[in-house]
Amino acid sequence: MTNDRDIIIACDFKNADETIKLLDKLTRIRSEVVRCDEFSGAARPFIKIGMELYYAEGPSIIKTLKARGHKVFLDLKLHDIPNTVKKAMIVLGEYGVDMVNVHAAGGFEMMKAAKEGLMLGAARYADKPKLIAVTQLTSTDDDMLHDQLLIDKPMDEVVKQYALNARKAGLDGVVCSAFEAAEIHAACGDDFITVTPGIRFKDNAADDQKRIMSPAEAREAGSDYIVVGRPVTAAERPYEAYARCREEFLG
Ligand code: C5P
Repeated sequence: MTNDRDIIIACDFKNADETIKLLDKLTRIRSEVVRCDEFSGAARPFIKIGMELYYAEGPSIIKTLKARGHKVFLDLKLHDIPNTVKKAMIVLGEYGVDMVNVHAAGGFEMMKAAKEGLMLGAARYADKPKLIAVTQLTSTDDDMLHDQLLIDKPMDEVVKQYALNARKAGLDGVVCSAFEAAEIHAACGDDFITVTPGIRFKDNAADDQKRIMSPAEAREAGSDYIVVGRPVTAAERPYEAYARCREEFLG
């Protein structure tokens, strides 16, 4: 079975107005865009809502995006005791999100509880949401791992073990760097999805991202979903940047 693959646009905006403005630019079919009809079926991109936007707008932003036909990845990275996470996940499942995440550092029992809660909440939806885990944040380096968190294993071993824990707990995949996608697939199976940020076109600035790949390279590396923010949201023509992502990543 091959995994679904898609491009997730990170809407790192502070309110609904700014988000809708971007979505209007993304979904407008412009006559000057070459071959626009080829992806008109995808004129409603998969959207990632992060903490800033969700805490500013609350659940209404999810309803707004779903009503406009977008799939929603709610990137809240839950991490608490299993019972608390389970109850929170029931609520998020009821909202009809398509993808949501937890920190793998919360452990096996927490991830299992998260999955149970999410499935309970989403019981009435035919398309079940995907639950993925953050292994280690890209802001954590080896020094921090060893000196602050007192974890003495190397980063790649930690990431692999956390991904295996997530798989065992019944999660669908992990957020990771595209550089780690092949290794995660080798350890956890091809059907375990890799969701990879740190994407830049060849002619883009890296901004604050350190290990970057283009959409075409991420495809080669085996990413299932790429998370793309500024290369699309800050582009002069977001619609065309999104089209370029589709062409490179989905072919
Ligand atoms: O603008 P840019 O393409 O860098 O946005 C990447 C998105 O992916 C942001 O929302 C960022 O918070 C998120 N992300 C990341 N690295 C991770 C996890 C999430 O860049 N390890």
